[in-house]
Amino acid sequence: MKIKTLLAGVAMLGALALTATGCAGSGDKAGGDKPITVGFAQTGSESGWRAANTESMKKAFSAENGFDLVFNAADNKQEAQIAAVRSFINQGVDAIVIAPITVDGWDDVLKEAKDANIPVILEDRTVSASPDLYASWVGLDFTQEGKTAGEWVKKNFDGKGANLVVLEGTTGSSAALDRSTGFNDAIKGTDIKVLDSQTGDFTRDGGKKVMEGYLQKYGKSINVLFAQNDDMGLGALDAIKAAGLTPGVDIQIVTIDAVKDGMTALSKGEFNYIVECNPLLGDKAAELVKAVLAGDTVEKKTIVADQSFDQEQAAKVLDSRPY
Ligand code: AHR
Repeated sequence: MKIKTLLAGVAMLGALALTATGCAGSGDKAGGDKPITVGFAQTGSESGWRAANTESMKKAFSAENGFDLVFNAADNKQEAQIAAVRSFINQGVDAIVIAPITVDGWDDVLKEAKDANIPVILEDRTVSASPDLYASWVGLDFTQEGKTAGEWVKKNFDGKGANLVVLEGTTGSSAALDRSTGFNDAIKGTDIKVLDSQTGDFTRDGGKKVMEGYLQKYGKSINVLFAQNDDMGLGALDAIKAAGLTPGVDIQIVTIDAVKDGMTALSKGEFNYIVECNPLLGDKAAELVKAVLAGDTVEKKTIVADQSFDQEQAAKVLDSRPY
């Protein structure tokens, strides 16, 4: 009797193990009647760009499109984001999408997802972990964005002995690191002097505070500001106006993102140039999740194209911008 019960128990455990493997495995999830459960680990809600990206993801991973989305925003705290990914693994979701806050620190949790047979798709930012640990990435060419911003500064300020300050994005994020690399490469060999470069965490508050500090320290000697996103540039506008200076004239401003508020400031002449960073990555991310779960071969990286705008171009397209 005891042996029978034991055998029945072993058989049940075996069946459960098979079911669990079936749930986590790829190749049998796309196109079925059951929704695909996706855990999405967002960075936080630091900027207008982030709001547009979250909206794009939620729209693409909707019930209507066959998904059951488990959303988490980590308030830009790396540990919280890693904890969210671990919780997705424990919940046994079918796939995980991550917008990684920082480049480093992902190896262990990505390995855990791989061991659990849960595919991971990265969106927006990149990681330094081995590409074997995730299925695919969709995002932007941040180095090129920084380069385009730097080329605009070079074109307009080289030879004038101009003083520049920089508002950097989140420390350790690929968006901040790569934009700095691209920008610095572009202005290399010019007589443009970088007075200071500090993080404003991609937020309006951060941009305002750091710019107030720059204005106190360097006063009217600042000619040009490179803000690594629109929100920090918008925060800096308040600081510049409060210092009795005219943004766009006394201090020229180049930013990255091209969200509605940034484009409005550009068309009003308060910003001088914006390099776009397209936040509408949801459809491509959802397509990748379905393809990976269906067992299809997917591209390891997909780069979404960006454009850039001067004041006149911004005024022309402002009303038709989708975000
Ligand atoms: O990773 C993309 C960057 O993150 C955007 O440029 C910025 O606005 C956001 O917070």
